[in-house]
Amino acid sequence: MATTPQTATQARGGEKSTLQELAKRHLWMHFTRLSAYDDAAVPILVRGEGCYVYDERGKRYLDGLSALFCVNAGHGRAELGEAAAAQAKELGFYSNWSYAHPPAIRLAARIAELAPGDLNRVFFTSGGSEAVESALKLCRAFHRMRGDGQRTKVIAREVAYHGTTLGALSATGIPSLRAPFEPLTPGGCHVPNTGDYRWPAERDPLWAADAIEERILFESPETVSAVILEPVQNAGGCLTPQDGYFARVREICDRHGVLLISDEVICSWGRLGTYFGSQRYDYQPDVITTAKGLTSAYAPMGAMIASDRLAEPFLEGKSSFEHGFTFGGHPMSAAVALANLDILERENLLGHVAGKEAQLRAMLEGLRDLPIVGDVRGAGYFQAIELVKDPETKKSFDDDESEWLLRGYLSGALYAQGLICRTDDRGEPVIQLSPPLIADSEQFEEIGAILRTVLTEACERLAEC
Ligand SMILES: Cc1ncc(COP(=O)(O)O)c(C=O)c1O
Repeated sequence: MATTPQTATQARGGEKSTLQELAKRHLWMHFTRLSAYDDAAVPILVRGEGCYVYDERGKRYLDGLSALFCVNAGHGRAELGEAAAAQAKELGFYSNWSYAHPPAIRLAARIAELAPGDLNRVFFTSGGSEAVESALKLCRAFHRMRGDGQRTKVIAREVAYHGTTLGALSATGIPSLRAPFEPLTPGGCHVPNTGDYRWPAERDPLWAADAIEERILFESPETVSAVILEPVQNAGGCLTPQDGYFARVREICDRHGVLLISDEVICSWGRLGTYFGSQRYDYQPDVITTAKGLTSAYAPMGAMIASDRLAEPFLEGKSSFEHGFTFGGHPMSAAVALANLDILERENLLGHVAGKEAQLRAMLEGLRDLPIVGDVRGAGYFQAIELVKDPETKKSFDDDESEWLLRGYLSGALYAQGLICRTDDRGEPVIQLSPPLIADSEQFEEIGAILRTVLTEACERLAEC
């Protein structure tokens, strides 16, 4: 299932930029229905400044998605490029395969200091899928080294997205992303997520946490390696945990010797107002996977942050973790990450998000008078609106209606009004907002005004159908 492209209106009078033609002919855009651009222009973004980006014709857009949940410090931060340039002059590249260099060492130490508990070992990757892949492999290898090699399964949640490499994909719980590539790496098992908007009122709030234990018992605990969860699940629309969810999951994992991976590719580096999402929800993972906002996406980089306990079997004698990526810990990316952490700290962006999240949320809650707004949920600068046919009954749109609403109308209309956000139907139809951490009242108002205009029109058009 492709994410809904925010197609631009075709330039009038047959005028087409060379870039447009080249993009259409040669650029294979990810998760994109390329045919959507047969009669529409590819949105070509050429410049960014703060919370805004500009297209090739100079039109300004509010980046309500931080590109893809990742430009946390905002656009146009020349100092991040300067950090990369300074590092290039010093040492453009060396790998972390048996060698180290100062930026990777300093960054690993800084991450270890910020990460919760004894998560002190940092294994760098090029991005999020590689971080997840690394965590899944580390958990398996850890069990094997302790004589528990039959622990190979991973439990993840329905509709969750954990990346696209075949191992990470086996944890991803979105059937349409899995089906074209099956058979996947064996061992991926799925349990209900925490999306409780339609739960019966009498349901135990920890039902979804307990479903993890049921699944572990069903699979036989001695075959289960790890549980992988995001602090707030992105796919499905910012699904937050119930109170006590993670405490219960931690207990369950400990009871059955299963490791807990916190997939924080989105939910770290201030996105939820804390360095790590697990700190916001007060739980101690065995491994954190991260990427995206680590460098504010100015350079590709991810990391797997493992506990001392997990690293311990790999520290002695002839043992080693037989895994790596050429570009893991790239010195230029590490230099950018260090400069990015300086910005987060210097500008107190975590404090800013924590202080302003209620205002962002109130703006979205203010849209509830529109008869298409069903639920508003999320945490920090990571919020979603679930769209429904009827907020009273919570009735959702069928596939055709959803296709029209998201692809046929909303994504294009929001973009035309100058708002970049995510319209998504990997679960129920949602609009997701994840602005740069510098966003403030002015941007919230702008987002609110555009959403109101476009959603009002959507309601009118739906009423005409
Ligand atoms: C929770 C989560 N895990 C893993 C990934 C994969 O990251 P990447 O696209 O950098 O490979 C993503 C990407 O959005 C993600 O949101």
